[in-house]
Amino acid sequence: MADADAVTYQAQDRNLALDLVRVTEAAALAASRWMGRGNKIEADGAATEAMRRAFDTMQIDGTVVIGEGEMDEAPMLYIGERVGAGGPAMDIAVDPLEGTTLTAKGGPNALTVIALAERGKFLHAPDCYMDKIAVGGGLPAEIVHLDAKVEENLRNLARAKKRDVSDLVLCTLDRDRHAEIIARSREIGARIMLLPDGDVAGVIAAALPDSDVDIFWGIGGAPEGVIAAAALRCSGGQMQGRLMFEDEAQLERSRGMGITDPKRVYRIEEMAGGDVMFAGTGVTSGAMLRGVRRFGHGAITHSIVMRSKSGTMRYIEAHHNFETKTWTKW
Ligand code: FBP
Repeated sequence: MADADAVTYQAQDRNLALDLVRVTEAAALAASRWMGRGNKIEADGAATEAMRRAFDTMQIDGTVVIGEGEMDEAPMLYIGERVGAGGPAMDIAVDPLEGTTLTAKGGPNALTVIALAERGKFLHAPDCYMDKIAVGGGLPAEIVHLDAKVEENLRNLARAKKRDVSDLVLCTLDRDRHAEIIARSREIGARIMLLPDGDVAGVIAAALPDSDVDIFWGIGGAPEGVIAAAALRCSGGQMQGRLMFEDEAQLERSRGMGITDPKRVYRIEEMAGGDVMFAGTGVTSGAMLRGVRRFGHGAITHSIVMRSKSGTMRYIEAHHNFETKTWTKW
């Protein structure tokens, strides 16, 4: 690439990252109106509609590859939907409201999230579960593995971090299916953080500098796994994922999406490859982001935006004035 082209490309890229935050902010502002009101469907719908509309302001030719479902089951942001006002061809992974139940109950860590990559760089994960393991950067490659024993992973991680196993915090979703991981971790003295919902925030936390979490391990949504992998590509963390199919119908769907080996352990680059951008805005407060704070005629949002190319993580606090923002309903 000639020097001038490289500068233009870089500027374009940086602007896209900031545009992406505007989209997650719009979704978070819309979802925040439903916080604690006991209606996760309305909360999700409001976030999706706002996100869909905000995409129209982005200079991209985007295709949703991880979205709200198939065309016949989702009115907006369905897999295959084209979004954006035109520009470079990009694939998009969205979760307009990650933590619908959290939002409906006013629980912690609900986020609006988007990841962007060049065409063909995201794993086309069907709506099934994924077994996920993630740790932060600066550690030897494959320091933990999905197929290793709990004790082995925790001891290796503790050694690499020059800590005691009892210093480590393992984060996972509070589900019966994680009983064995939890029991065996506790047995060797590790501490546990159980999330009611929202494993994207949990996976990201494992790879943030100065985080309370050392490792995320457990089964959650596969689309959420791909989005979290994109975030970790930017923050430099390690992650592996294996799709988990509950029935023949899910397997069949996955074949249609190009999955040939259903037992494969995917490396992070296979879930989110190439140049990746990630943006997330807090709907409710968590360890990483503050939730939307609403007042009179405005609100404050707190977001994170990251790019794998530069490795920069940017936290953005935006003060919105609803009297001057006219293009959507807040
Ligand atoms: P929603 O946004 O649909 O409420 O999903 C939240 C979530 O907790 C994800 O973070 C996680 O990956 C998945 O649901 C876990 O699924 P399950 O509740 O079936 O264990």
